[in-house]
Amino acid sequence: MTSALMPTVSPEWLRLREPADAAARAADLVDDLRSRLGDAPRLVVHDLGCGTGSAVRWLAPRLAAAQHWIMWDRDPDLLAAALAGKPDGITVTTRQRDIGTLTAADLSGAGLVTASALIDILTVEEVDAIAAACAGAGVPALIMLSVVGRVELTPADPFDAEVAAAFNAHQRRAVGGRRLLGPDAVAALADAFGRHGVATTLRPSPWRLAADDRALLDVWFREWLAAAVEQVPALATPAGGYARRRTAEIAEGRLTASVDHVDLLALP
Ligand SMILES: C[S@@+](CC[C@H](N)C(=O)[O-])C[C@H]1O[C@@H](n2cnc3c(N)ncnc32)[C@H](O)[C@@H]1O
Repeated sequence: MTSALMPTVSPEWLRLREPADAAARAADLVDDLRSRLGDAPRLVVHDLGCGTGSAVRWLAPRLAAAQHWIMWDRDPDLLAAALAGKPDGITVTTRQRDIGTLTAADLSGAGLVTASALIDILTVEEVDAIAAACAGAGVPALIMLSVVGRVELTPADPFDAEVAAAFNAHQRRAVGGRRLLGPDAVAALADAFGRHGVATTLRPSPWRLAADDRALLDVWFREWLAAAVEQVPALATPAGGYARRRTAEIAEGRLTASVDHVDLLALP
């Protein structure tokens, strides 16, 4: 998860969420993608905002062709982790670049663009740049696990809705002059592809966190609540009792959570 002022992402957080991400991804979009890719013998894939490489570990075994992955991230430590953790049987190179500068020329020779847990932390201009680059290069894009602003905790608590609203406002905040899209990102990307004449298919890809997913539930909940309080400081006092109730429920294996995401496939 990113912090308000330093949008860095910890490798520990990415490792913790990787199994929930893998279970959530919309596998049927990969079936559609495979039909489109046909039986090309070799595929070059650009993974935007690759982090430690969660997407390549999930997707590479599901694609038939020999693959070369070009991993994009602005964080050199995450790129090094992605290289070290690459799946067997594929080749990987890294690009330490800002995704906001992506152009169709960067995608020359590409067969696929992927991104995962990325576009909700981008701006409308950056999302437009991704759509324009993919459309201009005629490259399919599989953009996975974008948040859409819906969270459901069970059992419910009267304070949940207020925290969720403040968290969503935090996701849409301006950071250093950049207005983040947060839960509006998928609609913005689908719109941008539409303006370039590219059809998109959307599928739900929710995290379904079970009561025994304690480690992920605990970190996710704390970060979710901290972001909400950062956005609406008046929540700090009621958040104290709420946090104690919820963390006790997590520790006792009594809390489950559904965190909605959407996957998008664009086929130029
Ligand atoms: C939430 S993480 C997701 C990582 C990975 N795709 C995954 O699913 O585990 C977002 C990643 O995008 C990278 N990132 C965010 N904005 C970026 C930008 N403008 N240019 C390059 N990388 C960016 C971050 O460094 C981080 O690794």
